[in-house]
Amino acid sequence: MNKISVRGGRKLQGEVNISTAKNSILPIIAASILSGDKCVIDEAPMLEDVFVISDVLRSISADININEEANRIVIDTSNIKDDSEPSSNLVKMMRASFLIMGPMISRFGKFRLSLPGGCNIGTRPIDLHLKGFSALGAEVNVGHGYVEAQAKKLIGNKIYLDFPSVGATENVMMAAVMAEGETIIENAAEEPEIQDLGKFLNNMGANIIGAGTDTIRIIGVKNMKGTTHKPICDRIEAGTFMIAAAITRSKIKINGVNEEYLKPIIAKLTEVGVKIALDGNSMYVDADSDLKPIDIKTMPYPGFPTDMQSQMAGLLCTIKGTSVITETIFENRFMHAAEMKRMGANIKIDGRSSIIEGVDKLTGAEVRATDLRAGAALILCGLAAEGETEVTDIYHVDRGYVSIEKKLQGLGADVERITG
Ligand code: UD1
Repeated sequence: MNKISVRGGRKLQGEVNISTAKNSILPIIAASILSGDKCVIDEAPMLEDVFVISDVLRSISADININEEANRIVIDTSNIKDDSEPSSNLVKMMRASFLIMGPMISRFGKFRLSLPGGCNIGTRPIDLHLKGFSALGAEVNVGHGYVEAQAKKLIGNKIYLDFPSVGATENVMMAAVMAEGETIIENAAEEPEIQDLGKFLNNMGANIIGAGTDTIRIIGVKNMKGTTHKPICDRIEAGTFMIAAAITRSKIKINGVNEEYLKPIIAKLTEVGVKIALDGNSMYVDADSDLKPIDIKTMPYPGFPTDMQSQMAGLLCTIKGTSVITETIFENRFMHAAEMKRMGANIKIDGRSSIIEGVDKLTGAEVRATDLRAGAALILCGLAAEGETEVTDIYHVDRGYVSIEKKLQGLGADVERITG
């Protein structure tokens, strides 16, 4: 089992390049199903989640060539058949696998796949996705661990999402691109990755207006074709490195960012007292020891992202005074707290809030990455802690960070991956 060992206490310096976004490329790979043609993704992030969704598509006969050296993925979906059913083992590995449902119904008028992520269903339902498919005229059935949908013809409709779910917005958008007439998605999620998916779909021949706003208009087209695309930068990876600078009270340069997407993170780090300066697509992050505690509430974009919550918790553990983080998107996203406590953090969980009392110092310990962002947060805590921290179950982190240890080494951190 791979782990990452961090010997804390070093200041960071130098620069780091941000990869393209995991949450952009996953729906984009799913969307490539729509064309039955060839799509090329340039500057693709080589992440475990990308390999898993590629395997999901391969299990329905897509031909996917991943060139890790060139960071290029070529996807040919011409061999997918209308009765294709993906490997349930792969689908269960990753919730984002469910994003192939919309494109498959759109292209073939029917699809069946196992419910994604088994035990996740209770807390991360797919009801909004299914309501959207039904509104477009699909007959949807759930049972025996499978979801099935079929429609002779999808017909555009007005769909109001009860909650601006990222995945449901994307899945319904992809299902609607070739539906007859016009679809309007209201209360849509506004994340930048949805705007990116809209751009990709439009380059494939779709007619989508407003992706990235709360109202998306989709005028159905007859056919989709292949295209080439470079996903947007990963705002969560950028935010994680911003906190790497802040938690070590260092100054670093982060390249390949988009200020617009980072506004909620910039606002909160500025409130903490971190100095942030933009220079085109680069950002200087400068933190000294005089940082202040703050309160944060996670919200759908453009609010503070839930995917930055645990990393921010790590930083706030090192700042004197009381900070409160309220999580409004997911019910159970404080699993990092128990691990951080092993490092000397003072965190209390009260319902949907975590109350963090800053401590004088964190101390190295063996801790477990309980999920992707929690794992990243523990590595960050390790950078600030006295002594050695070992973060186990690092496969969670590899789902969403490209060579995190190499990027940190490039900034001067004493970090290494231990394999075996
Ligand atoms: C996406 C991101 C993930 C991020 C999350 C919230 C990808 C691949 N993943 O996940 O990194 O943490 O957005 O920003 O882009 N919900 C329902 N019914 C549904 C769908 C969702 O109740 O049908 C609820 C979920 O249980 C959750 C909330 O809506 O409480 C947000 O989920 P959603 O926006 O759908 O997240 P994902 O698309 O799964």
